[in-house]
Amino acid sequence: MALAAVFGYLSRFTTVPSSMTESVRATLDDDVLVRIRGLTTVLGGKTIFDQLDMDIPRGKITAIMGPSGTGKTTLLKHITGQMRADAGEIRVDGRNVAELSREQLYKLREGIGYLFQNSALLTDFDVFENVAFPLRQHTQLPEELIRNLVLLKLQAVGLRGAAPLMPSELSGGMARRVALARAIVFDPMLILYDEPFVGLDPVALNQVLRLISTLNQTLGITSVLVAHELAAVRQIAQHVFLIANGKVVAQGDPKTIADDGSPWTRQFFGGEADGPVPFQYPAGDYAQALGFAGVVK
Ligand SMILES: Nc1ncnc2c1ncn2[C@@H]1O[C@H](COP(=O)(O)OP(=O)(O)O)[C@@H](O)[C@H]1O
Ligand SMILES: [Mg+2]
Repeated sequence: MALAAVFGYLSRFTTVPSSMTESVRATLDDDVLVRIRGLTTVLGGKTIFDQLDMDIPRGKITAIMGPSGTGKTTLLKHITGQMRADAGEIRVDGRNVAELSREQLYKLREGIGYLFQNSALLTDFDVFENVAFPLRQHTQLPEELIRNLVLLKLQAVGLRGAAPLMPSELSGGMARRVALARAIVFDPMLILYDEPFVGLDPVALNQVLRLISTLNQTLGITSVLVAHELAAVRQIAQHVFLIANGKVVAQGDPKTIADDGSPWTRQFFGGEADGPVPFQYPAGDYAQALGFAGVVK
C-alpha cells in the first residue's frame, strides 16, 4: 500500500518532465482551492485591486471583510470568471480562470454555488421552481429526478414544506435559505456567500449561520463568506482576510484578528470613523475650493 503510494508519487514526476503539468501543479496546491496572485483591477478609472494575493484553503470557511465599496463582490465575480481582472492570476482547483474556454468556464461555474447579495429569487416562480431553475437551464434531467433533487435540497435547508410558496410569502431568512438551496443544487465544491446575514433578525441569522457551517462540515464544501458581522464570522470561519485599498491589509484567526494591533484592524473592527481608510473622499484643496486660497493659513 505504502509502496504503491510512493510509486504513484514518483511516476507523476517521471511521465511529463518537460513542463509542470496542470495535475502536478494542482497536487502541489492541494490544500488551497482558490489561489490569487497579483490581482489588479481598475474600474471606471478607480483601482479596486492593486496586486492582491490571497489563498483560500480547501474545505474550510474563509471570511472576507472590508469597508463597503472595497471590492468584495467584485472579487467573488473574478473567482467565477464573471468579471476579468486587468492583471494577475486566479486559479480555482488548479485551473487558471482567465484561460478557460467558454465551455470550461460553464463547467467551473457548475462547481461553484453563489449566494447573491439580497437572495435574488425569481419573483414569478414559487420556491420549488426557484430551486429547480438551474437544473432546468443546464440539464435535461427527467422531471422525477428534478423533483427529488429539489426536495432534497429544500429538506437540507429545512424548507421542504415551503415548496409551493411564492417569494413574496417568505420572510427574509426563508428567502436566504431558498437561495442557499438553489446555490447547492449542483453539489458545488465551493460556495460564495455575499453578505448572507444582511437584514436578518437574530434567529434567522443564526439559522443561516448554522446552515453555512453544516454544509461546510457535512459536504466538505469550501466556503467563502463575505460578511460584516464579526461575531458571526468568529463562530464559524477558520480564517479571515481584511481587504482595503486594493490589498489584503490583515489576515488571521477571526477570534484574535481584532487584537493584532494594526491600525487597519483597529479602525475596521473598532468601528472608528477615521484611520487608514480616510473619512474624506480624495479632493482638492479645501480653502481653494471655497475661494479662500492664499487667505486662510
Ligand atoms: N461594473 C463596474 N463598473 C464600474 N465600477 C464598478 C463596477 N462594479 C463595481 N464597481 C465599483 O467597484 C467598487 C467595488 O464594488 P464592490 O465589489 O461592489 O464593493 P463591495 O462589495 O466591497 O461593497 C465600487 O466602488 C463600485 O462602485
Ligand atoms: Mg458587495
